Amino acid sequence: MEMHGRQVTLRPLDPADAARLAEILATREVARWWTGYDQARVEAEFFVAEPNVTVFGIEHAGALVGLLQVTEEPTPEFHFAAIDLFLDPGVHGRGLGPDAIRVVARHLIQQEGHHRLTIDPAIDNEQAIRAYAKVGFKPVGRMREYQRFPDGTWRDALLMDLLADELEDGG
Ligand SMILES: CC(C)(COP(=O)(O)OP(=O)(O)OC[C@H]1O[C@@H](n2cnc3c(N)ncnc32)[C@H](O)[C@@H]1OP(=O)(O)O)[C@@H](O)C(=O)NCCC(=O)NCCS
Repeated sequence: MEMHGRQVTLRPLDPADAARLAEILATREVARWWTGYDQARVEAEFFVAEPNVTVFGIEHAGALVGLLQVTEEPTPEFHFAAIDLFLDPGVHGRGLGPDAIRVVARHLIQQEGHHRLTIDPAIDNEQAIRAYAKVGFKPVGRMREYQRFPDGTWRDALLMDLLADELEDGG
């Protein structure tokens, strides 16, 4: 399935995308937050189907510039979807991240019946927190020692969530 935003298209991955995604994940700006990815891990994590997980390639101007992953909680009483993404540093700061999140958020709310979405940037990932706030995500709380970094330290993350009627369309 393909979905179109103002600046991006979300589409299924093709096996030929693995090398490009590994290249993006190796950049300093992305590897700082998405740590420890080589091509073998990219193939194992994003190209092997997993229940309740959907992975999209993010395209801009005809080129693959990133990845967005949705993980859905299937238990009816706790139904929600979590979003993760990264973009090539060459396109950061141009609103592509918010555009990609809006497209998938609209789909999850309108087609998949979700009322609540979550996203969980590192507590000091200001670029990501600003991007997610623009879409309508609200800070909920600090998740302590949430992610382990290559230096061995566990660092905190910010849980943000968005309820269906809070989605901002970006004007
Ligand atoms: C986080 C990310 C998805 C946000 O997407 P984006 O398209 O860059 O988001 P935006 O264009 O809305 O920019 C967000 C903020 O980044 C900052 N920014 C703008 N240009 C920038 C640049 N060239 N470099 C660094 N930061 C920049 C600005 O503060 C901007 O907020 P503002 O528009 O209110 O001033 C993307 O930057 C990214 O992939 N980063 C690296 C990986 C990562 O952090 N993933 C998220 C893990 S939770």
